[in-house]
Amino acid sequence: MKQLNRRQFLKRGSALLAAGSLPFSLVEVAFGKGSEENFTFAYISDSHITHVKGNQFVRNWDRGLIRAVAETNLMDPRPDFTFYGGDIAQLGKPEEIDHGLDILGGLKGKLHYVMGEHDYYVDLGDYWRKQLGPDWHSFDHKGVHFVVLNSILTHKEWMHKKWDSGMDRMKQMARLDNPNGSPFLVGEEQRTWLKNDLAKVSRDTPVIVFSHSPLQKIYKGWNFWTDDAEQVQALLKPFKKVTVLYGHVHQIQYNQIDNISFHAVMATAWPWPYPSTYKQAESHLPKLTIEMNRADPFHERDATGWQFINVATGNVDMHYLLPDNQNRIVGFDATKGHPVDKQYQIAENRIPPQIHY
Ligand SMILES: [Fe+2]
Ligand SMILES: [Fe+2]
Repeated sequence: MKQLNRRQFLKRGSALLAAGSLPFSLVEVAFGKGSEENFTFAYISDSHITHVKGNQFVRNWDRGLIRAVAETNLMDPRPDFTFYGGDIAQLGKPEEIDHGLDILGGLKGKLHYVMGEHDYYVDLGDYWRKQLGPDWHSFDHKGVHFVVLNSILTHKEWMHKKWDSGMDRMKQMARLDNPNGSPFLVGEEQRTWLKNDLAKVSRDTPVIVFSHSPLQKIYKGWNFWTDDAEQVQALLKPFKKVTVLYGHVHQIQYNQIDNISFHAVMATAWPWPYPSTYKQAESHLPKLTIEMNRADPFHERDATGWQFINVATGNVDMHYLLPDNQNRIVGFDATKGHPVDKQYQIAENRIPPQIHY
């Protein structure tokens, strides 16, 4: 894995991308030199489109998504498809979902979606589903099996409590450190579906799973957490190469649990601080993860970003390009058997990348 500076990266990765950092992800899946199966896809996540009144929406979040769509359309070579990682809306209002989809409608090519909790809890996903289809599905593309899961369900007793309104339920779920909230869940129905779906897939086939919440347990207070994560991981265990890509946390995170590499993607809206900076509750931020610095509030796109993901060996190298921040590369180290940040992983050099203007 080689560290590329921004100029080299853009030159090598996509010559026609506009200079500067871009708030979406470019994913390259490659199985070795000369393979005809190499392809790329883009990844955009967590736009949190926020309705104010009438036709007014919060400008900053609109701009993040508009920029992502514009820059994705400039990609050369064209990505085979784009994936959207959830939380189109802030409070799940039809106006927010429609406005987000209007902006995303400018994208060229096929778009796949996963549901975020901000899309779901006002009406339990009815409007999102009407616009975008089922909560979970799988598809095959050029030798890779892709699985899309709805990981932001929760325990039925909580979901169907006697709420004042759907919006009351949404606002409870959207709050951080809320003792009246409830942890996320993939759930038995979906795990049964996943088990049957994976039964048809060869153990040698690379599997890439898209979820909104991490399919690992990081920080319960902010729902950086999926209650049945271990049961989902067990279903993925027979496969040689598995990668889980997730949104929701709005920050760089990476981890390796047995055969599964985990990587978070950046949001187009705003960054969350790392849970370890908040000590109210136990944090399980993966030891492998080296935090990036907090965002500069005077630069609205700082700590939002996009990734170039290279799966040249069937494992993932994530190339993060970060507006007004230093680029990061987190790649799979075959000798260590887990992802490492080559520039920052060495213990004596655990200094997060700093903003440089
Ligand atoms: Fe989000
Ligand atoms: Fe979320």
